[in-house]
Amino acid sequence: MEYRRLRRNKAIRNYIRETKVTLEDFIYPLFVIGGENIKEEIVSMPGQYRFSIDTLLQEVKELVQLNIQGILLFGIPDKKDPFGTTAYCQGNIVAKAITAIKKEFPQLYIVADVCLCEYTDHGHCGVLCGAEVDNEKTLPLLAKASVSYAEAGADLIAPSDMMDGRIEYIRKALNESGYEHIPIMAYSAKYCSAFYGPFREAADSAPQFGDRKSYQMDPANRKEALKETEKDIAEGADIVMVKPGLPYLDILWQVKEMVKVPVCVYQVSGEYAMIKAAEKMGWIDGKKVAMESLTALKRAGADMIISYFTKDFAKGLLEEK
Ligand code: PBG
Repeated sequence: MEYRRLRRNKAIRNYIRETKVTLEDFIYPLFVIGGENIKEEIVSMPGQYRFSIDTLLQEVKELVQLNIQGILLFGIPDKKDPFGTTAYCQGNIVAKAITAIKKEFPQLYIVADVCLCEYTDHGHCGVLCGAEVDNEKTLPLLAKASVSYAEAGADLIAPSDMMDGRIEYIRKALNESGYEHIPIMAYSAKYCSAFYGPFREAADSAPQFGDRKSYQMDPANRKEALKETEKDIAEGADIVMVKPGLPYLDILWQVKEMVKVPVCVYQVSGEYAMIKAAEKMGWIDGKKVAMESLTALKRAGADMIISYFTKDFAKGLLEEK
Protein backbone atom coordinates (compact mmCIF):
# COMPACT_ATOMS: atom_id res chain seq x y z
CA MET A 1 0.00 0.00 0.00
CA GLU A 2 2.98 2.30 -0.43
CA TYR A 3 1.53 4.68 -3.00
CA ARG A 4 -2.11 4.22 -2.18
CA ARG A 5 -1.78 5.71 1.35
CA LEU A 6 -2.09 9.19 -0.05
CA ARG A 7 -5.01 8.30 -2.27
CA ARG A 8 -7.32 6.90 0.38
CA ASN A 9 -9.84 9.66 0.58
CA LYS A 10 -10.86 12.89 -1.03
CA ALA A 11 -9.32 15.18 1.57
CA ILE A 12 -5.82 13.81 1.26
CA ARG A 13 -6.12 13.74 -2.51
CA ASN A 14 -7.12 17.39 -2.44
CA TYR A 15 -4.22 18.29 -0.13
CA ILE A 16 -1.58 16.76 -2.33
CA ARG A 17 -2.98 17.72 -5.71
CA GLU A 18 -0.20 19.42 -7.68
CA THR A 19 -2.27 21.02 -10.39
CA LYS A 20 -5.38 23.04 -9.83
CA VAL A 21 -7.35 24.56 -12.63
CA THR A 22 -9.01 27.79 -11.56
CA LEU A 23 -11.40 30.18 -13.26
CA GLU A 24 -8.63 32.79 -13.34
CA ASP A 25 -6.80 30.60 -15.85
CA PHE A 26 -9.47 30.95 -18.50
CA ILE A 27 -10.10 33.09 -21.56
CA TYR A 28 -13.39 32.49 -23.35
CA PRO A 29 -13.51 32.79 -27.17
CA LEU A 30 -16.58 34.47 -28.66
CA PHE A 31 -17.71 35.07 -32.24
CA VAL A 32 -19.31 38.37 -33.18
CA ILE A 33 -21.29 39.00 -36.33
CA GLY A 34 -23.12 42.01 -37.82
CA GLY A 35 -26.87 42.48 -37.61
CA GLU A 36 -29.21 42.48 -34.65
CA ASN A 37 -30.81 39.98 -32.36
CA ILE A 38 -28.67 37.14 -33.71
CA LYS A 39 -27.61 34.18 -31.60
CA GLU A 40 -26.97 31.26 -33.90
CA GLU A 41 -25.51 28.04 -32.63
CA ILE A 42 -22.43 26.78 -34.43
CA VAL A 43 -23.37 23.32 -35.63
CA SER A 44 -20.02 21.64 -35.01
CA MET A 45 -19.56 23.46 -31.67
CA PRO A 46 -22.71 22.81 -29.66
CA GLY A 47 -23.14 25.42 -26.94
CA GLN A 48 -21.12 28.05 -28.85
CA TYR A 49 -22.77 30.82 -30.84
CA ARG A 50 -22.35 33.66 -33.28
CA PHE A 51 -23.64 36.76 -31.55
CA SER A 52 -24.63 40.13 -32.92
CA ILE A 53 -23.42 42.96 -30.68
CA ASP A 54 -26.73 43.30 -28.81
CA THR A 55 -26.97 39.61 -27.89
CA LEU A 56 -23.22 39.56 -27.23
CA LEU A 57 -23.74 42.18 -24.54
CA GLN A 58 -26.36 39.98 -22.87
CA GLU A 59 -23.98 37.03 -23.02
CA VAL A 60 -21.11 39.09 -21.63
CA LYS A 61 -23.30 40.22 -18.75
CA GLU A 62 -23.79 36.59 -17.83
CA LEU A 63 -20.07 35.86 -18.17
CA VAL A 64 -19.19 38.75 -15.89
CA GLN A 65 -21.74 37.51 -13.35
CA LEU A 66 -20.05 34.12 -13.52
CA ASN A 67 -16.75 35.87 -12.69
CA ILE A 68 -15.16 35.07 -16.01
CA GLN A 69 -12.24 37.48 -16.31
CA GLY A 70 -11.48 37.55 -20.00
CA ILE A 71 -12.74 36.89 -23.48
CA LEU A 72 -11.14 36.48 -26.90
CA LEU A 73 -13.03 38.06 -29.77
CA PHE A 74 -13.32 36.87 -33.35
CA GLY A 75 -15.19 38.87 -35.97
CA ILE A 76 -17.34 37.62 -38.80
CA PRO A 77 -17.68 40.51 -41.24
CA ASP A 78 -20.53 41.37 -43.60
CA LYS A 79 -18.16 41.72 -46.51
CA LYS A 80 -14.92 40.07 -47.55
CA ASP A 81 -12.39 41.14 -50.14
CA PRO A 82 -8.86 40.09 -51.19
CA PHE A 83 -7.27 42.49 -48.67
CA GLY A 84 -9.35 41.69 -45.61
CA THR A 85 -10.41 45.34 -45.42
CA THR A 86 -13.18 44.68 -42.91
CA ALA A 87 -10.57 43.50 -40.39
CA TYR A 88 -9.19 47.01 -39.95
CA CYS A 89 -11.53 49.53 -41.60
CA GLN A 90 -13.19 52.26 -39.58
CA GLY A 91 -16.08 50.76 -37.64
CA ASN A 92 -14.99 47.13 -38.13
CA ILE A 93 -17.05 44.56 -36.29
CA VAL A 94 -14.44 43.65 -33.66
CA ALA A 95 -13.66 47.28 -32.80
CA LYS A 96 -17.38 47.98 -32.53
CA ALA A 97 -17.91 45.00 -30.26
CA ILE A 98 -14.97 45.97 -28.04
CA THR A 99 -16.24 49.53 -27.68
CA ALA A 100 -19.73 48.32 -26.81
CA ILE A 101 -18.48 45.79 -24.24
CA LYS A 102 -15.99 48.17 -22.61
CA LYS A 103 -18.70 50.77 -22.19
CA GLU A 104 -20.81 48.44 -20.06
CA PHE A 105 -18.18 46.12 -18.61
CA PRO A 106 -14.90 48.02 -18.36
CA GLN A 107 -13.43 45.42 -16.01
CA LEU A 108 -13.72 42.54 -18.48
CA TYR A 109 -10.33 41.75 -20.03
CA ILE A 110 -10.65 41.73 -23.81
CA VAL A 111 -8.22 39.89 -26.04
CA ALA A 112 -8.45 40.69 -29.75
CA ASP A 113 -7.38 38.03 -32.20
CA VAL A 114 -5.56 39.58 -35.14
CA CYS A 115 -5.70 37.76 -38.45
CA LEU A 116 -7.07 38.34 -41.93
CA CYS A 117 -8.55 34.91 -42.70
CA GLU A 118 -12.04 35.74 -41.48
CA TYR A 119 -12.00 38.87 -43.65
CA THR A 120 -10.40 37.81 -46.94
CA ASP A 121 -12.57 36.35 -49.69
CA HIS A 122 -9.89 33.72 -50.39
CA GLY A 123 -9.75 32.73 -46.72
CA HIS A 124 -5.97 33.02 -46.32
CA CYS A 125 -4.39 34.76 -43.36
CA GLY A 126 -2.72 37.42 -45.45
CA VAL A 127 -2.91 39.14 -48.84
CA LEU A 128 -1.96 37.18 -51.92
CA CYS A 129 0.67 37.61 -54.55
CA GLY A 130 -0.37 35.06 -57.14
CA ALA A 131 -1.21 31.97 -55.16
CA GLU A 132 1.17 32.84 -52.32
CA VAL A 133 0.56 34.77 -49.16
CA ASP A 134 2.71 37.89 -49.31
CA ASN A 135 4.43 38.38 -45.97
CA GLU A 136 5.56 42.00 -46.35
CA LYS A 137 2.28 43.27 -47.78
CA THR A 138 0.36 41.59 -44.96
CA LEU A 139 2.30 43.10 -42.04
CA PRO A 140 0.96 46.68 -42.35
CA LEU A 141 -2.61 45.38 -42.50
CA LEU A 142 -2.15 43.30 -39.36
CA ALA A 143 -0.67 46.35 -37.68
CA LYS A 144 -3.63 48.45 -38.76
CA ALA A 145 -6.05 45.91 -37.33
CA SER A 146 -4.07 45.75 -34.08
CA VAL A 147 -4.11 49.52 -33.67
CA SER A 148 -7.83 49.70 -34.41
CA TYR A 149 -8.60 47.10 -31.72
CA ALA A 150 -6.32 48.85 -29.22
CA GLU A 151 -8.04 52.12 -30.02
CA ALA A 152 -11.41 50.50 -29.37
CA GLY A 153 -10.19 49.39 -25.94
CA ALA A 154 -8.72 45.90 -26.34
CA ASP A 155 -6.51 44.91 -23.39
CA LEU A 156 -4.34 42.43 -25.24
CA ILE A 157 -3.51 42.00 -28.93
CA ALA A 158 -3.15 38.42 -30.14
CA PRO A 159 -1.81 37.97 -33.68
CA SER A 160 -2.68 34.51 -35.02
CA ASP A 161 -1.67 34.94 -38.65
CA MET A 162 1.81 33.36 -38.53
CA MET A 163 3.51 35.87 -40.82
CA ASP A 164 7.21 36.31 -40.15
CA GLY A 165 8.22 39.46 -38.29
CA ARG A 166 4.69 40.39 -37.29
CA ILE A 167 5.33 40.83 -33.60
CA GLU A 168 8.05 43.42 -34.15
CA TYR A 169 5.95 45.20 -36.75
CA ILE A 170 2.83 45.28 -34.59
CA ARG A 171 4.77 46.33 -31.48
CA LYS A 172 6.20 49.27 -33.35
CA ALA A 173 2.82 50.29 -34.73
CA LEU A 174 1.19 50.07 -31.29
CA ASN A 175 3.97 52.13 -29.74
CA GLU A 176 3.80 54.79 -32.43
CA SER A 177 0.06 55.10 -31.93
CA GLY A 178 0.33 55.58 -28.18
CA TYR A 179 -0.43 51.99 -27.12
CA GLU A 180 2.87 51.12 -25.51
CA HIS A 181 0.93 49.85 -22.52
CA ILE A 182 -0.97 47.25 -24.53
CA PRO A 183 0.71 43.83 -24.44
CA ILE A 184 1.01 41.34 -27.29
CA MET A 185 0.22 37.64 -26.96
CA ALA A 186 1.82 35.86 -29.91
CA TYR A 187 0.34 32.71 -31.34
CA SER A 188 3.95 31.51 -31.53
CA ALA A 189 3.77 27.74 -31.92
CA LYS A 190 0.69 27.65 -34.07
CA TYR A 191 0.48 24.42 -35.98
CA CYS A 192 -1.20 23.78 -39.31
CA SER A 193 -3.89 21.68 -37.71
CA ALA A 194 -7.04 19.91 -38.82
CA PHE A 195 -8.30 20.55 -35.30
CA TYR A 196 -9.32 24.06 -36.44
CA GLY A 197 -12.09 22.64 -38.66
CA PRO A 198 -15.11 23.68 -36.56
CA PHE A 199 -13.68 27.18 -36.05
CA ARG A 200 -13.49 27.63 -39.80
CA GLU A 201 -17.16 26.70 -40.02
CA ALA A 202 -17.92 29.15 -37.21
CA ALA A 203 -15.97 32.00 -38.79
CA ASP A 204 -16.53 30.97 -42.40
CA SER A 205 -12.77 31.24 -42.85
CA ALA A 206 -11.64 28.05 -44.60
CA PRO A 207 -9.11 28.76 -47.36
CA GLN A 208 -10.85 28.75 -50.75
CA PHE A 209 -7.84 27.08 -52.35
CA GLY A 210 -4.78 25.30 -50.99
CA ASP A 211 -4.01 25.16 -47.29
CA ARG A 212 -2.13 27.04 -44.60
CA LYS A 213 1.05 24.95 -44.78
CA SER A 214 3.18 27.81 -46.10
CA TYR A 215 2.66 29.85 -42.92
CA GLN A 216 1.42 27.61 -40.09
CA MET A 217 3.79 25.05 -38.62
CA ASP A 218 4.23 21.42 -39.60
CA PRO A 219 2.80 19.20 -36.81
CA ALA A 220 5.85 16.98 -37.15
CA ASN A 221 8.24 19.69 -35.95
CA ARG A 222 9.30 20.39 -32.41
CA LYS A 223 12.48 22.45 -32.63
CA GLU A 224 10.81 24.84 -35.02
CA ALA A 225 8.25 25.64 -32.34
CA LEU A 226 11.01 26.57 -29.93
CA LYS A 227 12.70 28.75 -32.55
CA GLU A 228 9.45 30.54 -33.44
CA THR A 229 8.75 31.14 -29.78
CA GLU A 230 12.22 32.54 -29.06
CA LYS A 231 11.95 34.80 -32.08
CA ASP A 232 8.55 36.14 -31.05
CA ILE A 233 9.88 36.95 -27.58
CA ALA A 234 12.91 38.69 -29.10
CA GLU A 235 10.52 40.72 -31.26
CA GLY A 236 8.60 41.82 -28.18
CA ALA A 237 5.90 39.26 -27.41
CA ASP A 238 4.78 39.61 -23.79
CA ILE A 239 3.01 36.24 -23.73
CA VAL A 240 3.49 33.28 -26.07
CA MET A 241 1.03 30.62 -27.10
CA VAL A 242 0.95 26.98 -28.10
CA LYS A 243 -1.94 25.86 -30.27
CA PRO A 244 -3.71 23.39 -30.43
CA GLY A 245 -3.57 22.10 -26.85
CA LEU A 246 -3.89 18.43 -26.02
CA PRO A 247 -2.17 17.00 -29.13
CA TYR A 248 0.78 19.35 -28.47
CA LEU A 249 1.40 18.85 -24.76
CA ASP A 250 5.03 18.01 -25.44
CA ILE A 251 5.50 21.39 -27.14
CA LEU A 252 3.69 23.20 -24.35
CA TRP A 253 5.91 21.55 -21.76
CA GLN A 254 9.09 22.41 -23.63
CA VAL A 255 8.07 25.98 -24.33
CA LYS A 256 7.24 26.45 -20.66
CA GLU A 257 10.63 25.05 -19.65
CA MET A 258 12.41 27.32 -22.10
CA VAL A 259 10.81 30.74 -21.69
CA LYS A 260 10.42 33.21 -18.85
CA VAL A 261 7.31 34.91 -20.20
CA PRO A 262 3.82 33.55 -19.45
CA VAL A 263 2.59 30.76 -21.69
CA CYS A 264 -0.93 30.46 -22.99
CA VAL A 265 -2.47 27.38 -24.58
CA TYR A 266 -5.44 27.25 -26.93
CA GLN A 267 -7.73 24.26 -26.56
CA VAL A 268 -9.11 24.62 -30.07
CA SER A 269 -12.47 24.07 -31.70
CA GLY A 270 -11.74 20.51 -32.84
CA GLU A 271 -10.76 19.47 -29.33
CA TYR A 272 -14.03 20.88 -28.06
CA ALA A 273 -16.06 19.32 -30.89
CA MET A 274 -14.58 15.85 -30.34
CA ILE A 275 -15.47 15.87 -26.67
CA LYS A 276 -18.98 17.18 -27.37
CA ALA A 277 -19.59 14.65 -30.15
CA ALA A 278 -18.42 11.66 -28.17
CA GLU A 279 -20.46 12.86 -25.20
CA LYS A 280 -23.55 13.15 -27.40
CA MET A 281 -23.04 9.58 -28.56
CA GLY A 282 -22.89 8.50 -24.94
CA TRP A 283 -19.38 7.17 -25.43
CA ILE A 284 -17.55 9.32 -22.89
CA ASP A 285 -18.40 11.46 -19.91
CA GLY A 286 -17.81 14.78 -21.66
CA LYS A 287 -17.54 16.86 -18.50
CA LYS A 288 -14.92 14.61 -16.96
CA VAL A 289 -12.96 14.39 -20.19
CA ALA A 290 -13.07 18.18 -20.53
CA MET A 291 -11.81 18.62 -16.97
CA GLU A 292 -9.08 16.03 -17.41
CA SER A 293 -7.95 17.76 -20.63
CA LEU A 294 -7.85 21.17 -18.96
CA THR A 295 -5.90 19.72 -16.04
CA ALA A 296 -3.40 18.20 -18.47
CA LEU A 297 -2.92 21.56 -20.17
CA LYS A 298 -2.24 23.23 -16.85
CA ARG A 299 0.04 20.42 -15.69
CA ALA A 300 2.05 20.71 -18.90
CA GLY A 301 2.74 24.36 -18.10
CA ALA A 302 -0.09 26.59 -19.27
CA ASP A 303 -0.44 29.82 -17.32
CA MET A 304 -3.53 30.76 -19.29
CA ILE A 305 -6.03 28.57 -21.14
CA ILE A 306 -8.22 29.66 -24.02
CA SER A 307 -11.14 27.25 -23.98
CA TYR A 308 -14.69 26.91 -25.24
CA PHE A 309 -15.38 25.13 -21.93
CA THR A 310 -14.82 28.33 -19.96
CA LYS A 311 -18.50 28.97 -19.31
CA ASP A 312 -19.19 25.38 -18.28
CA PHE A 313 -16.24 25.55 -15.90
CA ALA A 314 -17.44 28.86 -14.47
CA LYS A 315 -20.86 27.36 -13.86
CA GLY A 316 -19.20 24.60 -11.87
CA LEU A 317 -20.36 21.95 -14.32
CA LEU A 318 -16.93 20.42 -14.87
CA GLU A 319 -15.57 20.08 -11.39
CA GLU A 320 -16.25 16.95 -9.41
CA LYS A 321 -18.62 17.49 -6.57
C1 PBG B 1 -7.28 32.68 -37.25
C2 PBG B 1 -7.52 31.69 -36.18
C3 PBG B 1 -7.88 30.34 -36.29
C4 PBG B 1 -8.08 29.87 -34.98
C5 PBG B 1 -7.79 30.93 -34.13
N1 PBG B 1 -7.42 32.03 -34.89
C6 PBG B 1 -8.15 29.52 -37.48
C7 PBG B 1 -7.05 29.10 -38.36
O1 PBG B 1 -5.88 29.43 -38.16
O2 PBG B 1 -7.39 28.46 -39.36
C8 PBG B 1 -8.52 28.50 -34.62
C9 PBG B 1 -9.21 28.40 -33.30
C10 PBG B 1 -9.97 27.15 -33.07
O3 PBG B 1 -9.90 26.18 -33.86
O4 PBG B 1 -10.67 27.11 -32.07
N2 PBG B 1 -6.17 32.43 -38.05
